[in-house]
Amino acid sequence: MNTTRPVLVFDSGIGGLSVLREMRVLLPERHFVYVADDAGFPYGDWKEEVLRAHLLALFGNLLKKYKPQLCVVACNTASTLAINDLRAAFPDCPFVGTVPAIKPAAEQTGSGVIAVLATPGTVKRAYTRALVTSFAGQCFVRLVGSRKLAAFAEAHLRGQPVDMAALAAEIAPCFVEKKEQRTDIVVLACTHYPFLINLLRKVAPWPVDWLDPAEAIARRVRSLLPDDGREIDPLADIAGFTSGKADFATRRLLHGFGFKYEAYA
Ligand code: DGL
Repeated sequence: MNTTRPVLVFDSGIGGLSVLREMRVLLPERHFVYVADDAGFPYGDWKEEVLRAHLLALFGNLLKKYKPQLCVVACNTASTLAINDLRAAFPDCPFVGTVPAIKPAAEQTGSGVIAVLATPGTVKRAYTRALVTSFAGQCFVRLVGSRKLAAFAEAHLRGQPVDMAALAAEIAPCFVEKKEQRTDIVVLACTHYPFLINLLRKVAPWPVDWLDPAEAIARRVRSLLPDDGREIDPLADIAGFTSGKADFATRRLLHGFGFKYEAYA
């Protein structure tokens, strides 16, 4: 079968590109559409009910417009709130979410002390708390909700400077010393944060593993798609921004990820 229906990758901003880049490696033959709800960015402080309704309405439009064969909600803040609602509302389209990698962190930690770095929304979610209870009961888990990091990543990706002292202050609560043990894994539970990894390493008080689940998500997506051996037009991928405004730096960035910018209507 030769289908050109795309895989839709969604985030509030450009953070979902950290998941997209892994999918480009594992699924080079796929056609992608990237949608950033930049008009709604950041999602971290939205009221849960308002954000849920907003996402359901937005995805209703996106599914009509792009007819994707699968949607990747490359946003922890949205997935931990609404992935089950989206699956229930749109049963004909498979949804893959991004949720904090607490289970693998609990399996891999040597010290038993882990931190989850996320937006304030993700940290508050019942979904995230349930992951801790179900999979990390034997660990000390520090949940850290940052108000600034996603915006730092947006700026950094567009070539703007990041205030390193402010960055250090944002991640400081992740670094816990308990008796003889200290944090050895920080879960990157916001898709924006992997883009800051080199800066995070510089300001961390001690070396840790920064756990980025993007590759695991890409593998999951690959496992759900039929292996139908198509060839696509490599220039056909488009990215839409809900604000309808993407500046030059953003367009250049999208181009680097293989997308042509299209004003989202
Ligand atoms: N990239 C989003 C996430 O994974 C959050 C960015 C935001 O809207 O603050 O949670």
